[in-house]
Amino acid sequence: MNIIALYGSPRKKGNSAVLTNAFLSKAEELGAKTSRFSLNAMNFKGCQACMGCKTKKDHCILKDDLSQVLDTIHDSDVLVLATPVYFGDMTAQMKMFFDRTYSFFVPDFMTNPKPSRLKPGKQAVFIQTQGQDDPSFFNDIYPKYEFFLNAMGFKNNILIRACGVDEPGEIEKNDLIMAQAVDAAQKVMG
Ligand SMILES: Cc1cc2nc3c(=O)[nH]c(=O)nc-3n(C[C@H](O)[C@H](O)[C@H](O)COP(=O)(O)O)c2cc1C
Repeated sequence: MNIIALYGSPRKKGNSAVLTNAFLSKAEELGAKTSRFSLNAMNFKGCQACMGCKTKKDHCILKDDLSQVLDTIHDSDVLVLATPVYFGDMTAQMKMFFDRTYSFFVPDFMTNPKPSRLKPGKQAVFIQTQGQDDPSFFNDIYPKYEFFLNAMGFKNNILIRACGVDEPGEIEKNDLIMAQAVDAAQKVMG
């Protein structure tokens, strides 16, 4: 099982990173091979809307630090997206990545019954942390992006969500959510 994890927070020891690391540690213990990318430390652009991935190539034609990430997703079984909520959405770093996944879609994706260039059978794990402790705030983020993940072919996706966390790493004190990260790894590893 190959797992790729994308860290969307600039905080290396932040809450979304702590949950991601708990998930990955358990998955590794159960035999997974993992690759980790901290988006904030990488040099890459958002989608340029050049349509090169629709008219010239079957992949994104930009060559930057994200090229390896997009390639690795093709070879992975599980994609972990970890992001804090910034102004009611994923971080800008994660959104720049997400826009580049436009290259995963075939040119006629709007009408094609097989819109995705990704092999079927992949699964996504979405890790969301937020300062607001009321879970009814920002519960629209995951469904919004899961809609597109489904269109890319990701199925049986899992959401791990921590509300009311602000200080870096304070999620470690929340046994319930930490256990959810470990449980998710067990589920993914079957
Ligand atoms: C620029 C910025 C914007 C934020 N916007 C929100 C927000 O809209 N709603 C919210 O609940 N928390 C917001 N937060 C708080 C973070 O989501 C929260 O601290 C989260 O636990 C950080 O995750 P991390 O430790 O993985 O970086 C914001 C924080 C920053 C720095």
